[in-house]
Amino acid sequence: MEFLGPEAAKKEISLELDAPEELFIEADEDRLGQITLNLLQNGISYTPEGGRVRVKAVIVETAGEEGGDAPEHVRITVSDTGIGIPKKDLPRIFERFYRVDKARSRSSGGTGLGLSIVKHLVELHHGTIRVESTVGVGSTFVIELPLIHDY
Ligand SMILES: Nc1ncnc2c1ncn2[C@@H]1O[C@H](COP(=O)(O)OP(=O)(O)OP(=O)(O)O)[C@@H](O)[C@H]1O
Ligand SMILES: [Mg+2]
Repeated sequence: MEFLGPEAAKKEISLELDAPEELFIEADEDRLGQITLNLLQNGISYTPEGGRVRVKAVIVETAGEEGGDAPEHVRITVSDTGIGIPKKDLPRIFERFYRVDKARSRSSGGTGLGLSIVKHLVELHHGTIRVESTVGVGSTFVIELPLIHDY
């Protein structure tokens, strides 16, 4: 968020962080940074001036398989008040080089690789990613990563 602050400020977009003071996760630091950087960059790129981009992090317990233990996960949510993504495009946005329309990406200089990299890195952590979006209202990307890994 520090890195992208100036970019957000240029568009008068407020960047908000909602996370516990201390939250620890067993993960690859650089890759985790790449994941959040890509999502934040998208949020800022695809949100008009005066909007808001918010990062939220919480620990959640997801139901274990076959009634077993409920492993702890960190849920990271990146939401924006941006242009949104049409329903018909949602299933495809994690594909390499997929852009919703070339015009909107050209103005942001995008190649359509960001989200495919994000998905790949999330899967390397045995995590999941999903998206909810409404055109003209905004988008929410939700990532869940295991808090710890048993090898
Ligand atoms: N937060 C968002 N709001 C609206 N549309 C989005 C958002 N994030 C992604 N998109 C749409 O999904 C497409 C794919 O995103 P992705 O990050 O993979 O590529 P990109 O941003 O175009 O380029 P790159 O990230 O490689 O610079 C984008 O072109 C854009 O149309
Ligand atoms: Mg991108």
